[in-house]
Amino acid sequence: MAIAEKGKQHLIDPGICIRCNSCEEACTISAITHDERNYVVKPDVCSECRDCVPVCPTGAIDNWFAIVPGEAWSIEEQFSWDELPAPTAAAPPPQPAIPQEVERLTAEATAGQGGPAPAPWSAEKPAVNLYTEKNPITATVTGNLRLTAEGASADIRHIILDFGGAHFPLLEGQNIGIIPPGSDGKGRPHFVRLYSVASPREGERPGYNNCALTVKRVVEDHESRPIRGVCSNYLCDLEKGDKVQVIGPFGANFLMPNHPGSSLMMICTGTGSAPMRAMTERRRRRRELNEGGSLMLFFGARAQDELPYHGPLMKLPQEFIDINFAFSRVPGEPKRYVQDRIRERHEDVWRHLNDEECYIYLCGLKGMEKGVDEAFRDVCRLHGGDWDKLLPQLRGKGRYHIETY
Ligand code: FAD
Ligand code: A2P
Repeated sequence: MAIAEKGKQHLIDPGICIRCNSCEEACTISAITHDERNYVVKPDVCSECRDCVPVCPTGAIDNWFAIVPGEAWSIEEQFSWDELPAPTAAAPPPQPAIPQEVERLTAEATAGQGGPAPAPWSAEKPAVNLYTEKNPITATVTGNLRLTAEGASADIRHIILDFGGAHFPLLEGQNIGIIPPGSDGKGRPHFVRLYSVASPREGERPGYNNCALTVKRVVEDHESRPIRGVCSNYLCDLEKGDKVQVIGPFGANFLMPNHPGSSLMMICTGTGSAPMRAMTERRRRRRELNEGGSLMLFFGARAQDELPYHGPLMKLPQEFIDINFAFSRVPGEPKRYVQDRIRERHEDVWRHLNDEECYIYLCGLKGMEKGVDEAFRDVCRLHGGDWDKLLPQLRGKGRYHIETY
């Protein structure tokens, strides 16, 4: 039975939704759809299974309004909203967000590559959704540096945003939302885009209330057709002193462990290096504490010139971080992807997979997810293990985290 027939309606808060598509992907009965502006729930299809709830990074999905049966808001009405309607006098207020413990259990239950894994047990508790589209924080640009070589095909930039005296706590692995100025073809304000925080929790420099982003200027779509990405071009063209509307922070799962002795295995392509930079920098600043643990990095890019943070990475001592580059477009050399390097390093990868203190992070191109999964499967097979058994264990313990886009 559709929940609208039971006098309840599932709605998505357009003021909080970041349009990441996770809910639509998670819905197995196609009850969620979207137009250029809003994600909405079909009242005659939704069965209240809640598969979409744990995958939503903001909680925008978690609204269940009491209605008079048969009088549900249509999807056309929902498409026109900028915010949720006020509950009617007859209706009780919307249900509060699912308690965190329930969300954690749900996430564990849905562990697998489709859903978020719980955060590492020792991760710092994140602040989430402090600033919304109705109440964004204004940041000031204090730096915008091109990371890729001038002749490189990709323009990837290191952009520093300063939050002044405002309270905006961020953890490595979290995202912030940027609201580009202006409006879309229908005259409505542009929707928010998410960017991974590339700096550690104390900011680019301890004592400064700022964060860095690693942004690629999008000039073509995934099928190589020329386009001009709205937000990435806006960000890449910013100059020092410009003001930016920011919301967030978001993300409570893709977080680094805090406890001494924990290790990180990080796998990324392109701008997926942003959270890895944040985590690496956090560990680098704490090196003198001798907390133990190791860092292993697999980093894929077309060529050295296209690789953000190549210079700073090369300055890090080998005993601090084990770096494995995979270049795919170096003339005269075979194409290599991160999954090829994972197979080559199978002895150490197998050791890390079996090390309870090692936490694994995958970020970057959506396409690499499948290839990395196959590489881990091969590593397990080579060493007499079973990836299908290991993966749910890793996910359940918050040891395997994926963020791809
Ligand atoms: P739009 O105007 O929205 O056009 C999007 C079109 O560009 C789509 O059709 C898509 O096919 C195409 N496209 C081509 N390349 C990309 C690409 N790399 N990403 C998205 N769409 C692309 N981006 C970063 O540069 N750095 C980050 O650290 C980062 N972190 C992210 C974290 C999360 C959790 C998510 C969901 C996304 C992240 N992104 C990041 C992507 C970012 O949110 C935007 O989607 C991207 O900048 C494109 O936005 P746009 O407004 O420029 O393009
Ligand atoms: P490719 O040269 O085949 O595009 P981008 O520069 O587009 O952000 O990509 C970053 C790196 O990720 C590139 O080396 C790219 O290789 C590589 N890549 C592309 N598809 C995959 C995939 N399915 N698995 C792993 N790496 C990939």
